[in-house]
Amino acid sequence: MLRGVVAEAGELLRSGYFRRKQVEFKGVIDLVTEYDRRIEEFLSQRLASLGLPIVGEESFEGEIPPSAIFIDPIDGTTNFVHQIPFCAISVAIWRDGLPVEGVVYNPITAEMFYAKRGEGALCNGEPIGVSQTDRLIEALIATGFPYAKIERGSEYHFVLRALERLLPVTRDIRRLGSAALDLCYVAAGRFDGFYEIGLKPWDTAAGLLIVQEAGGVVTNHLGEPYRFGDVIVASNGKIGNNLIELLAKG
Ligand code: IPD
Ligand code: CA
Ligand code: CA
Repeated sequence: MLRGVVAEAGELLRSGYFRRKQVEFKGVIDLVTEYDRRIEEFLSQRLASLGLPIVGEESFEGEIPPSAIFIDPIDGTTNFVHQIPFCAISVAIWRDGLPVEGVVYNPITAEMFYAKRGEGALCNGEPIGVSQTDRLIEALIATGFPYAKIERGSEYHFVLRALERLLPVTRDIRRLGSAALDLCYVAAGRFDGFYEIGLKPWDTAAGLLIVQEAGGVVTNHLGEPYRFGDVIVASNGKIGNNLIELLAKG
């Protein structure tokens, strides 16, 4: 049911992608379009029958409940506005603090990533798994930059320090612009690892389950179990400790 509803919402994203859009500003560089709002509204209505609170990026305020539907209507809004085809709808169902089902759908590249707890991870219906890379110098690592970077505060400094440590010792670093897809690319073995500071629950709620179900590991930068609000570190499990060693220095 979840995949069907997200596929329908994908039509909305696709129809907006090729059009000129009305862009509003949530912050100096934090954009939102009518499509973000319409997709979130559509999904909230269609998923209401599940009887869970909706934690959607464009409408939610308050404490995160342990059981909820997490919605990022467009993860990669900046890409969406600039017509860079790396944006996706991310939806996850959590019960009692655990992810049970997650979908990340990029209707532009026509890839739907999906996982159900205990049942493995899929891309367009085919099983996917993490890479086997065990040397950092052979690893392609993804990351992202928080909007708060413009304040030049602690998150900005974390970004710079992490790059300084990782760039010389990895195959390369990518910043593609959608955390949900970054996680799915780790799950599919395209990236060997991913880390980012300052992500919100709707960015990671689906992708982290997809990584875990694909055989990967998700922690914070200290190697502890990841909780919303932490720096997220996702990997194939083989390079995770090396990544954490470099990121834990702060
Ligand atoms: C953003 C993307 C981006 C990440 C930002 C997120 P949005 O989400 O996931 O890759 O670096 O931190 O906020 O705003 O496009 O939904
Ligand atoms: Ca997002
Ligand atoms: Ca978003």
